[in-house]
Amino acid sequence: MSSASDPARAREAIARNPLWYHTIDVAPGVPTPGVFDLRPVVERLPWPDVRGKRCLDVGTYDGFLAFELERRGAAEVVATDISDHAEWDHEVRLGGQSTELLEEIAGEKGAGFEIARELLGSSVVKEEINAYDLSPQRLGEFDVVVCGSLLLHLRDPLRALAAIRSVCGGLFMSIEQVDLVLTRLHPRRPLAKIDGTSGRGQWWVANVAGHLRMLEAAGFDVQRSTGVYLEQLGIGHPGRGTSRRGLRDLAERVLGGGEGVPHAAALARR
Ligand SMILES: C[S@@+](CC[C@H](N)C(=O)[O-])C[C@H]1O[C@@H](n2cnc3c(N)ncnc32)[C@H](O)[C@@H]1O
Repeated sequence: MSSASDPARAREAIARNPLWYHTIDVAPGVPTPGVFDLRPVVERLPWPDVRGKRCLDVGTYDGFLAFELERRGAAEVVATDISDHAEWDHEVRLGGQSTELLEEIAGEKGAGFEIARELLGSSVVKEEINAYDLSPQRLGEFDVVVCGSLLLHLRDPLRALAAIRSVCGGLFMSIEQVDLVLTRLHPRRPLAKIDGTSGRGQWWVANVAGHLRMLEAAGFDVQRSTGVYLEQLGIGHPGRGTSRRGLRDLAERVLGGGEGVPHAAALARR
């Protein structure tokens, strides 16, 4: 990455994007107002040594993980995402409504990534490609692949994992939202909660054992994994600081020890 951006220029560029998903330090003292803030947990992730490696971030959104790969010394980073909100695996019962809603609140897909990349002086290359369509013919092979908080949003996460494995020549770091209640009640039994109707765009939320089993079922060998940690809500999150309601939310706050979305990560070998 090149030298840091001027803070005033950074603030003006940030304001051009209506919704930031990631909190990214794009200039000294200037973070983007993200819905989520991965900065407090980034060191807890089971990063492999990426120095000099060819790396891929699948479902990059504003690019936090891709820029982190670059910061850690990757020789080349490719970041992929869908090109349009219409390409999410939308809930059947919502019809076209969720695309319209996302277009309204999140604006143009990929706009935040482009602004952050420019402000950071980053060389990360963006490719618009659906996770299901990843193939060595299109992108070649990567030493390290990372993917965060995507599998739960896919109707067919194992098909996506097969495509991810097809471009992974070495290691895969999978970071996923997990179900805290299922994890605490069944620490060793691989389980997942089925959704697809709540309006949250979530299909499968596994417990920690379920996340690891999905990786194994796709052919990966898990090398190490984290326990559950909370992904922090960023200042752009509409629910930050408000008291959430409902027994499940209460249970998650008590079991998780704070406010945030339960996640777990694993490093696996192809
Ligand atoms: C919940 S965000 C996670 C962002 C980031 N990976 C992280 O861990 O913070 C999910 C991302 O996956 C993307 N996405 C959704 N469906 C996808 C698909 N079928 N293929 C590739 N990316 C997809 C979304 O556009 C969004 O950028």
